Amino acid sequence: MKKEISRKFCVAPMMGYTTPYARKLYRILSKNSFLFSEMIATKSLIYSKSKDNVIDNDFNNPVALQVGGSEIDDLTKASKIAIDYNYDEINLNVGCPSKAVQKGSFGACLMRDKILVRNCMEALQNDNIEASLKCRLGLGKELNYEFFEEFIDEISKTGIKIIYVHARNAILSGISPQANRSIPPLNYDFVKKIKNKFPNITFILNGGIDNLDKAENLLKEFDGVMVGRLIKHNPFILKEVDKKIFKEKGRLIDESIINNYFEYIKPKLGFESIFRLLSPLLSIFFSVPHSKDYKSKINDYMKDQKINLIEELLIKFVSERNLS
Ligand SMILES: Cc1cc2nc3c(=O)[nH]c(=O)nc-3n(C[C@H](O)[C@H](O)[C@H](O)COP(=O)(O)O)c2cc1C
Repeated sequence: MKKEISRKFCVAPMMGYTTPYARKLYRILSKNSFLFSEMIATKSLIYSKSKDNVIDNDFNNPVALQVGGSEIDDLTKASKIAIDYNYDEINLNVGCPSKAVQKGSFGACLMRDKILVRNCMEALQNDNIEASLKCRLGLGKELNYEFFEEFIDEISKTGIKIIYVHARNAILSGISPQANRSIPPLNYDFVKKIKNKFPNITFILNGGIDNLDKAENLLKEFDGVMVGRLIKHNPFILKEVDKKIFKEKGRLIDESIINNYFEYIKPKLGFESIFRLLSPLLSIFFSVPHSKDYKSKINDYMKDQKINLIEELLIKFVSERNLS
């Protein structure tokens, strides 16, 4: 059975960032945000022995598992795995422009073949999980609304209910994946237009939403927003989301956030790299100025795996800078 879940505020899938550990932290900070895993290739999902380091869920629902792939049997298996791991949604990545992903025939290059994407979406469908898509507006330097509408029209035939749109084109050669998140211009109007054309599909707007006021304003016009780099740079922004976006009474959030998080990661030390365990918290040093001393101390402690000292230092940093 599929549950009714709000996707008003989603944290975007980000490779290397939206790990099971980050999702634990995000969930401590916000009860209502809809979360995503990193993208995982269907072959790794099916065959890799270490897949748990990417897809472990630990009841951080609501959450989607994002996959990359275009082989029909693999996608059907991927849906079943997502159900076994208690995910609420399985999402197909049709937005990643990287060369490696193109080589594997998945990601944004699939926008060239709308029939194949339609078949992929059909393969993902299962009565026990929502199957969704994350795509771009199109491919190449020129924006073309007709292309976008024809693509969505084909996918709509699957009965799909949720589409996340990174509201810019993907450029498949000549620029890096990182540049592909800033150089192709954003166009929110295309998403507004498509939403009116396909009222039975929930379109979630993604791309360039760099503060919560903007997210709140966009929600007057869009079904939901998806935010990536804002949260990557400072996950503590999430503590405002339940209040500002979901209009809930503020919860007291204090240094216990850090304690809870460390309780979760400490037993994993030795099985997972200390950097991956700490990276959801470390990114705050890049967004808060004058953190150099903290950064170099943390680096030293990380080398020596001194997790308790890192915990103390982070608590001090967060309370000194008023982040909690
Ligand atoms: C480090 C990083 C990794 C990303 N990895 C993925 C990914 O695995 N799957 C995906 O669909 N998008 C990925 N993206 C794209 C984001 O999901 C999002 O579409 C993009 O960052 C635009 O949203 P923003 O402007 O709010 O950051 C990644 C983005 C970043 C910054």
